[in-house]
Formats: sequence, C-alpha cells, structure tokens
Amino acid sequence: MISKMYNQMLPRGNRTEVSFLFPTIELAVKAEIFVLLIPFQIIYVDIFVDWLERVLSETKPAPKLVSITNPGNPTGTCIPDPLLKRISEICRRAGTRLVVDNAYEYFTYDGLKHSCVEGNHVVNLFSFSKAYGMMGWRVGYIAYPSEAQSLRTQLLKVQDNVAICASMISQSTALGCLEAGREWVRNQVKSLVRNRELLLEALSPIGQDAVKGGGGAIYIWAKLPEKYQDDFAVVCWLAKRHGVVLLPGSACGLAGCVRVTYGAIKEAECEVAAKRLRAGLEELMRDGMAE
Ligand SMILES: Cc1ncc(COP(=O)(O)O)c(C=O)c1O
Repeated sequence: MISKMYNQMLPRGNRTEVSFLFPTIELAVKAEIFVLLIPFQIIYVDIFVDWLERVLSETKPAPKLVSITNPGNPTGTCIPDPLLKRISEICRRAGTRLVVDNAYEYFTYDGLKHSCVEGNHVVNLFSFSKAYGMMGWRVGYIAYPSEAQSLRTQLLKVQDNVAICASMISQSTALGCLEAGREWVRNQVKSLVRNRELLLEALSPIGQDAVKGGGGAIYIWAKLPEKYQDDFAVVCWLAKRHGVVLLPGSACGLAGCVRVTYGAIKEAECEVAAKRLRAGLEELMRDGMAE
C-alpha cells in the first residue's frame, strides 16, 4: 500500500531523493526513487536534521519527497516535537513533500511523547497493525491536506488498485480497536517496558554507547564492536550457539549493527532471550565467535 502511494505521489521517471531507512529503502527502490543512505551517526536525530537541511538546500532541483518514520523502524528513534517541526519547516522551505509514518505512535518510553506535524506539504500515515496488534489485517489511514486536490486524485488511484477495500474481518477488527480505544493500547505498551529494560541490560557487554535510539516503537538498535562488523555472521552465530535471534542491520541498510525486537514476546520468554543474548555478547567480547 505504502509503496503504491509513493509511486503515485512522484512523477514517473523522476529521480527523487528520499531520506531515512527501512522499510522505505526497498519500497523507494521499487518506485525508482533515488535513495540516500544515511551514515550511522545520522541516527542521532538532531544530526539528521542538520544533514537534511544541508542536503535539501544544496540539491538542485530540490528533492520531491522526504519520508520519516516516527518512532522509527529499525532504530526505535522517537523524534522530539521541536525537531519534527524543524524537519517539517525545512521541507516546506525546500518545496519538498514530507511523509511521516506514524505506525508506532503509541509506543514511546522514558516519558517521551509522540507528536504530529501538519501543513500543506505534510502527509501522515497511520496503521492499526502495531498499536492494536492486528498485523496482517492491514487497515490504516492517511491524513493529507484537504487543499492538495492533485494528491487526492493520486491517492484515489492507489485505492482503486488495492482490492477495492479491506476485508470485512479487518474492518470489524479495526472497529473493535477503535471501541477499545487508546487506553487499551497504553496498557499493552506498559507490558513492553520491562522487556525493553531486560534487553537494554542484555546489550550492556558491547558498551554503553553501542545502543542508539530505542526511545520508541518496539526496537533497540545497536552498533556491533569494530572487530565484529559482519552483522550477518554475528546474528547467525548468536542464533546457532546461543539460541537467540536478532535482525542484521544490513537487512535494514546499515551493516555493522543489529536490531533487537521486543514487541511480540511475553516477559517470561523475554527474560530467557535476554539471558541468552547477554551470555552470547559476553562470549563475543571475551573469546570472539567461538564454535
Ligand atoms: C514503520 C512501519 N510502517 C508501516 C508498517 C506496515 O504497516 P501495515 O501493517 O499497516 O501495512 C510497518 C510494519 O512493519 C512498519 O514497521
């Protein structure tokens, strides 16, 4: 759905720069959008904003579209309101459309709050998938400026192409979600807090500075030690030798890192996973990838 939307929002054959990471990269490649891979440090959102400002002012013609995910997948980075407003203003000034994917809007920790920006250049995407645990049932919605008539025409073209409408089961489930309301989601999210703590603690053998983002969504992003930059090899080793599975950063466009997910796992299971992860990382630091 999202990839079709990008396709429609951009003129055919236009090489347009899109910023930020997975899953946008794959979708953007399919949509013939020129993707800028962002260096690791840019994951610090304030550095990202300076970088974005420079790229948008220096690139001629200005990129047509910037897409961000807030809170982020795979980094779990939650963009603070003042920075989000700055991103929006930078895009507005450059004449660039800003698409914000808010799929993890309710998933924030450590007192962080999710917020939205609006404007004639802003499109906000929302999904029931994550917040209400109805992955695969694919119901979401798009908030776009009513002034953008041409965008509406393009979006309707997309809708025409996606099997007429969501299935009745999906619609009923989404209705049930709305009736249960945000309070239900907040309680679910509370149950993730302990999982996150356990996994942050389990990652400590690779160093305090290794963990980036992680203030929102269901992800912690960590940089592997310099000696072990082959993330795929590390992930395979952890799975085979320690029975714990992470996502290699290279699958998200950033090698040398890993993504740790704690969304769909009960606390008791997470305790086991965290113990295995910690034992694996301690061994990695001490003896390397011993067989
Ligand atoms: C940031 C983000 N946006 C969107 C989606 C997909 O949402 P939906 O299930 O509504 O297609 C995902 C799924 O992993 C995601 O991580």
